[in-house]
Amino acid sequence: MALLYRISNINLVSLQFHFLSILFILASRAWAVELMEIDATIALGSNFHKFDANPDDPPIVEPEPHELSGPIEFDNMTNLAESVPVKDSVNYSTLVAYKFEPDLDSEWTHSYQILVYISASLCGLPDTWDTDLSENGLTLYYTFNETVAQSTDTNEMTAIKFRNGYAEGLAEMQMQVNVSEYTLYMLVIPDSCAECTSDSSWVYEFAVSQKNLLFLYDVEPFISVVDVDYDTVIFEAGRINFGKNRSYGMYIFEDGSYIPTSLNQSWCAISESTGYGTRIEIQENTTESTRNEFLVSGLEISKHYSAVLVVTFTDIPYGGGVFKQFEFTMSTSKACKLAYSLDFCNEVAYAVPVSTEFYQGGESWEQLMAAYDNYSQSLYTPFEYAMQQIPCDTELSARYSPIRTCDDCKYSYKQWLCSVTIPRCISPSHAGPQNMAYDAGLGRNHFIEQTINPPLPYAEVLPCLNMCEAIVRDCPSDFGFACPQSADLVQLSYGDPNFDDPDQTTEDGVSVTSDLFGYVQTYRACNFMGEQNVQNTTSAA
Ligand SMILES: *[C@@H]1O[C@H](CO)[C@@H](O)[C@H](O)[C@H]1NC(C)=O
Ligand SMILES: *[C@@H]1O[C@H](CO)[C@@H](O)[C@H](O)[C@H]1NC(C)=O
Ligand SMILES: *[C@@H]1O[C@H](CO)[C@@H](O)[C@H](O)[C@H]1NC(C)=O
Ligand SMILES: *[C@@H]1O[C@H](CO)[C@@H](O)[C@H](O)[C@H]1NC(C)=O
Ligand SMILES: *[C@@H]1O[C@H](CO)[C@@H](O)[C@H](O)[C@H]1NC(C)=O
Ligand SMILES: *[C@@H]1O[C@H](CO)[C@@H](O)[C@H](O)[C@H]1NC(C)=O
Ligand SMILES: *[C@@H]1O[C@H](CO)[C@@H](O)[C@H](O)[C@H]1NC(C)=O
Ligand SMILES: *[C@@H]1O[C@H](CO)[C@@H](O)[C@H](O)[C@H]1NC(C)=O
Repeated sequence: MALLYRISNINLVSLQFHFLSILFILASRAWAVELMEIDATIALGSNFHKFDANPDDPPIVEPEPHELSGPIEFDNMTNLAESVPVKDSVNYSTLVAYKFEPDLDSEWTHSYQILVYISASLCGLPDTWDTDLSENGLTLYYTFNETVAQSTDTNEMTAIKFRNGYAEGLAEMQMQVNVSEYTLYMLVIPDSCAECTSDSSWVYEFAVSQKNLLFLYDVEPFISVVDVDYDTVIFEAGRINFGKNRSYGMYIFEDGSYIPTSLNQSWCAISESTGYGTRIEIQENTTESTRNEFLVSGLEISKHYSAVLVVTFTDIPYGGGVFKQFEFTMSTSKACKLAYSLDFCNEVAYAVPVSTEFYQGGESWEQLMAAYDNYSQSLYTPFEYAMQQIPCDTELSARYSPIRTCDDCKYSYKQWLCSVTIPRCISPSHAGPQNMAYDAGLGRNHFIEQTINPPLPYAEVLPCLNMCEAIVRDCPSDFGFACPQSADLVQLSYGDPNFDDPDQTTEDGVSVTSDLFGYVQTYRACNFMGEQNVQNTTSAA
């Protein structure tokens, strides 16, 4: 039995993020690393450095370091150790220097070249810095050449700019036969800046490693919204890679309290921020199914939220990854409530029409769920008896199909039955060709109209046509199951992304529209259940 884990009854307090400001979207050319490349151990290996740089982005203006006085004292250099991050700060007109001696005997050193992953996360900017900018005004320079390092001649070094609170790079050095020692020199220097003074200070965390990046940013959110009602959300985080020495947390920010653009890819800034409403720990034992579903309740009707997933490497003092921020909006109507953890229809995890009793407080959520589940099960029983008449467990040659078994048929029938007896509900403002509108008191069958008796208008996301096609495919022909064939008939009772307005439907059968407030809403074009029934659309048009 699938039990959706109720993570918390959170109480979102209104906390103002101190960088609160209107975002101007600046074209940023953030180097992005795809975290999914990480295997179960933290070791990322050499297949990891996959950067996503948009070729359409404007060219980067090379940073100009602020004028520095004279050569640096090599005694003042901080020695960095493999995979041991440091936290430091640098003021305007100064620099901070580091060195790292790669281990030439390490399994990570190739016979002919040294690779060193450099990654950093910005925790704080000068007070006067414009947080709407992607640019952070800070650059990390590196070289393997001691003379160059000592002269602080940044033109001779490779530059890694901090952007959106993040910096990453890969230092490469071809090994020479007659050289037995290599040192990587790194200088953190503020760019020249008109408003900066000697009090302008940047705080950062920084690490080098021959194995992997210790600070990461991913261009994908890794979490998606399965469905919402007016106070609860079901999320799925199917691609999370739970493993040792890492913990996952999702930060939820209230309406408008975004992480400022200048730090939105910084593990440090997000981990240290206080502007979020709540942090949800995502653990293997608090998520359900292969899709890692989990539930967050205590949110507010009609409210708009943004959220970000963060992974923390727990075996080091600082370090982790930030995934792309995403947004969601709570339902504007109390017509629908999320259904989950049902005994019989155990794959149901979406909003359903509430009953008048529930709406008026006379019925609990558990009772509402039992009403739907019992009704569905009561319709399944006759089918089960009929199924017992079919030769299922006999020799292959005596079966009704060499490739489909009675279990396939039962599974497909059950998913179909649950999807037609437990309608998927969305707010009536989303009514459309795939989302049939119903007034209060009405519904797709007598059970909905008489027992549930919806108190408010709502719209139904119709079951996907392929759920019907699955029973025709999987069940013995004796049952005479058939699905509507013409588009007109299909549209009366099923949804099919192939009939959708192509402008509004993305590749995975998700509709995208804007609600009254201009917020983007996404939801399935039709209701599917069962992993095998996930819609694969036929064209990418
Ligand atoms: C270091 O850089 C200096 C100046 O660019 C150059 O003359 C020298 O050959 C370099 N040393 C090595 C070992 O590459
Ligand atoms: C290493 O050998 C190359 C070519 O033989 C020579 O140019 C270079 O100066 C040598 N480097 C050192 C540090 O001896
Ligand atoms: C660096 O900046 C901080 C405040 O941002 C200030 O307290 C400190 O004195 C500055 N350090 C130097 C050496 O100017
Ligand atoms: C889940 O696992 C963590 C350790 O990984 C443990 O601390 C926690 O108590 C577990 N939670 C539940 C509800 O079992
Ligand atoms: C977890 O961290 C500990 C301590 O650093 C280390 O010994 C262990 O190998 C790590 N485990 C994994 C799976 O990386
Ligand atoms: C940070 O903001 C920039 C610019 O608005 C955006 O392109 C980028 O995707 C954001 N990063 C995250 C992690 O949301
Ligand atoms: C649902 O069925 C269970 C077991 O058959 C029964 O105990 C329960 O009262 C029923 N609930 C409703 C709301 O019909
Ligand atoms: C969709 O694709 C997945 C993975 O390729 C597959 O397992 C599933 O059966 C497909 N579903 C349909 C309805 O074709």
